[in-house]
Amino acid sequence: MNSFSQNMYELELVKYYDLMHKHRNYDQEANFINQIVQKLWPEANKILDIGCGTGEHAIRMAQRGYKVTCVDTSQDMLKLAREKANTAGVSIDFRCKDLGKLDFNEEFQAAYCLGYTFLYLTVYSEVENFLKNINRALLPSGILLIDFLNGWSLIEKYPKDKFVYRDGQTTIFQFNQASLDKRRRVRHIEFYYIIRDGSDKVRTAFAEEDLRIFFEDEVLILMASYGFEALKAFGGYSMDSAVTDSSRVIVVVGRKRRR
Ligand SMILES: C[S@@+](CC[C@H](N)C(=O)[O-])C[C@H]1O[C@@H](n2cnc3c(N)ncnc32)[C@H](O)[C@@H]1O
Repeated sequence: MNSFSQNMYELELVKYYDLMHKHRNYDQEANFINQIVQKLWPEANKILDIGCGTGEHAIRMAQRGYKVTCVDTSQDMLKLAREKANTAGVSIDFRCKDLGKLDFNEEFQAAYCLGYTFLYLTVYSEVENFLKNINRALLPSGILLIDFLNGWSLIEKYPKDKFVYRDGQTTIFQFNQASLDKRRRVRHIEFYYIIRDGSDKVRTAFAEEDLRIFFEDEVLILMASYGFEALKAFGGYSMDSAVTDSSRVIVVVGRKRRR
């Protein structure tokens, strides 16, 4: 048996990212970004994708005619995203950049950070830095969308989970074990993977991450504190989904305040 242990956005696990996220409805998520942008700034054409992963949203936005710039820290995720953009025949500006070190200056009409990447900001100083940098990257009145798992669902969710992903000859079992650090408002999750990919070998992998527990009001207040007009929160990726305590996902929309 072969074992490897790592950050899940590096090396071996990256190639299974799309399989493990097959349940996602990227069409709906990209439609939602587009609807929000069209409603608030119909002429918008330059968009920033923060923590783009394998490029699913970016490719769909580029196919709609937007000029998309993507940032992500994982060279491996970016490599996959570049390959997929080439296959889709779209041109996207991919950059290897930490979301805490964005140095754009009034370039974009809209920015989005999806896939709960925002939850990796586990302390307020990181959130402040992140929001201020995005604010600087946006033109006045620029739009920002952020999605995150509703704090209540992270607190109440049963601490053990099992998932099975299958595609052709590949089968992956994923076992999650989570614990809650109430004081830091962080959910620590350990992921254990058993991977059979058609070769004779069965391999295992281990990854772990900390996700900050955020609530709707909290994120709206943070947005309003760092240069945004907090416009609205949605209980999912559709214009008519209201936020309730049982919403699993929350999407907040803000707009850069004019000076
Ligand atoms: C959960 S994935 C979301 C990817 C994509 N947005 C989606 O919705 O599928 C998180 C992504 O954020 C990237 N990431 C994590 N920390 C980051 C950081 N500090 N700066 C930039 N990207 C980061 C990871 O490499 C990964 O591609």
